Amino acid sequence: MTEPARVQRGLEEVVALESRICFIDGKLGRLIYRGYDIRDLAAKATFEEVAHLLWYGRLPNVRELADLKGRLGDLRRLPDPFLRTIEALPADASPMDVLRTAVSALALYEPAETKPGATAIAGAERLTAALPSILGTFHRRRRGLPALRPRPELSQAAYVLYAILDRDASELEERALDVALILHADHELNASTFAARVTASTLSDLYSSVTSAIGALKGPLHGGANERAIELAEQIGTPDRADAIVKEKLARHERIMGFGHRVYKVEDPRATILREWSRKIGEAKGDLHYYEVLERVKEIVHQEKGLYPNLDLYSGSVYTPIGIPHDLFTPLFAVSRVSGWTAHILEEYEDLRLIRPTAQYIGPTDLAWTPIANRT
Ligand code: COA
Repeated sequence: MTEPARVQRGLEEVVALESRICFIDGKLGRLIYRGYDIRDLAAKATFEEVAHLLWYGRLPNVRELADLKGRLGDLRRLPDPFLRTIEALPADASPMDVLRTAVSALALYEPAETKPGATAIAGAERLTAALPSILGTFHRRRRGLPALRPRPELSQAAYVLYAILDRDASELEERALDVALILHADHELNASTFAARVTASTLSDLYSSVTSAIGALKGPLHGGANERAIELAEQIGTPDRADAIVKEKLARHERIMGFGHRVYKVEDPRATILREWSRKIGEAKGDLHYYEVLERVKEIVHQEKGLYPNLDLYSGSVYTPIGIPHDLFTPLFAVSRVSGWTAHILEEYEDLRLIRPTAQYIGPTDLAWTPIANRT
């Protein structure tokens, strides 16, 4: 046997590839999309501008932005037989499972979009436009709401809110969701993006790569953390109860969802921005209790474990007062992150190298074959 190699469990700190899309400075708490600081993008950009930036490598001019919005608006309409497929899914299914199944199924109706190469950018736009329609179609059916109208005139954020809430969003709600979509759009080689790139690196198609990514995002250590964080805030109820509940969980060695990060050693800059939106939405709705509970949880977890919040701590405290149900938080993460996944898949296709690491084998090698009759 060869000398044992040093195993980097969880590929921690392994630099797997070169990318021009996203940079995280974990020590300084900076996040950059294609050269632009997330703080500037969250303050000044729209999700559509950010999607253009991720896919095409630069901010759009007025005409390019209008064209992209027009295309995304038109692409919201889904084929009728595909809509019937979504409607046939169990009404009590998890929306993440629905999203994963639906993206995979959509490929059957759009074979031309699934090929790597020139059509992949069209597939990126198609999936980014389609995800809110898929989610809205499923959610409205399970709630007995009227069928979704594609509403091409709405921004992505306004359309997502209309699809879920069955009403037009206020300006503040639309901007809050727009910022949340910008903050979730990309995050370097996070687990789901890596899963997407691994699939794309086999020269598999865009829809298969995004399906892999949705499966990875679903886990509670990744995108699923946001639902658990709001459940904790609800369990706590009022800030004065936070001390006892959080300390008891920590004493039982439970993880507090929405804290800690593989890359950030300081506060996640997205958490800083979303905390402010949690306060703004709370004030506008006359209910600051999520914000206040999470503020207290933040203090205790930092004091007890030295951990900082990540983005997932606050997203639910922005979504819940708007009326978005908990089981749509992780799907909303996908609605945004699909822009980043597809940017990475496109980059993978441009500079393709099969991603295939090796394992340090630690099992036996020289066992003698035992005939089945002799096995105990
Ligand atoms: N709550 C309590 N303790 C935590 C913690 C959390 N959220 N996150 C990390 N820790 C502790 C671990 O128990 C470990 O302590 P130990 O050394 O005493 O055993 C230490 O911090 C290091 O954790 P580790 O799991 O090695 O870090 P990681 O880089 O593998 O983990 C996460 C990164 C994100 C998986 C982890 O922080 C976590 O599980 N967070 C909660 C889920 C979450 O919010 N995910 C969204 C990420 S954006």
